[in-house]
Amino acid sequence: MTESNRVEKSREEIAAAYSSHPWWYDVRGFFILTFAYRSTLWEQVRLFGNNIATRHLEVAIGTGTFFDIVLKWRKWKGLPRASVVGIDYAQPMLMGAMTRFRGQPDIELDHADVAALPYDDNSFDSANVANAVHCFPEVDAGLKEIFRVLRPGGKLAANVLLYPRGPQFLRWIANRINAWGMRKGILVRPFEASDVRDRMVSAGFEIVRDHVSGNTYNVIARKPDG
Ligand SMILES: C[S@@+](CC[C@H](N)C(=O)[O-])C[C@H]1O[C@@H](n2cnc3c(N)ncnc32)[C@H](O)[C@@H]1O
Repeated sequence: MTESNRVEKSREEIAAAYSSHPWWYDVRGFFILTFAYRSTLWEQVRLFGNNIATRHLEVAIGTGTFFDIVLKWRKWKGLPRASVVGIDYAQPMLMGAMTRFRGQPDIELDHADVAALPYDDNSFDSANVANAVHCFPEVDAGLKEIFRVLRPGGKLAANVLLYPRGPQFLRWIANRINAWGMRKGILVRPFEASDVRDRMVSAGFEIVRDHVSGNTYNVIARKPDG
């Protein structure tokens, strides 16, 4: 089924679902990470922390809790600071990020939809989408927009929630969490890894490397030169 005929939720519905208080969002995020994604913070920090170049776009930054950990990890590793633009469509999430990063002039935060980014073509060196592709109502439009604003050679890092795999009991838990997330509206749907890969390629990206870990598809994709 093509995406054009399976947009289950509007961006307004998704944004409204992300209206919890930022602290509750962060607490529940830990359980979702462990039991639905079956991933670890450490795995995610390495994936995203290594994909931040001079001018960076952090798509769907949420409350910024995770991105703040990524920045601290980079500092600890002695990696250079970047000039960052973070966007999110849900105002309460963005407000959390604004409070968190107040007083950091190299982090700009904008209210924007990934499917209609208010930035020039080729204006970012890197982009990360952490824990959010499966929350987008228009995944293909979002990927195309990220592709457009990345410069040739610029890289996108993303992790995408997959349909639960592995032992039956763990699948059962993950299915319950996903069903709750879809009912609540914070999850549009999980994906098959091959589907995400195909969508990235259709958007114009070349896959640099990808792998499945737990219930998560981790990918680094690149906008080809010229
Ligand atoms: C699960 S949260 C992830 C937040 C953060 N990246 C993290 O790892 O904690 C998903 C985020 O995607 C945002 N989002 C959903 N649809 C969006 C859209 N169309 N444009 C921008 N952000 C969107 C939500 O508002 C939410 O903050």
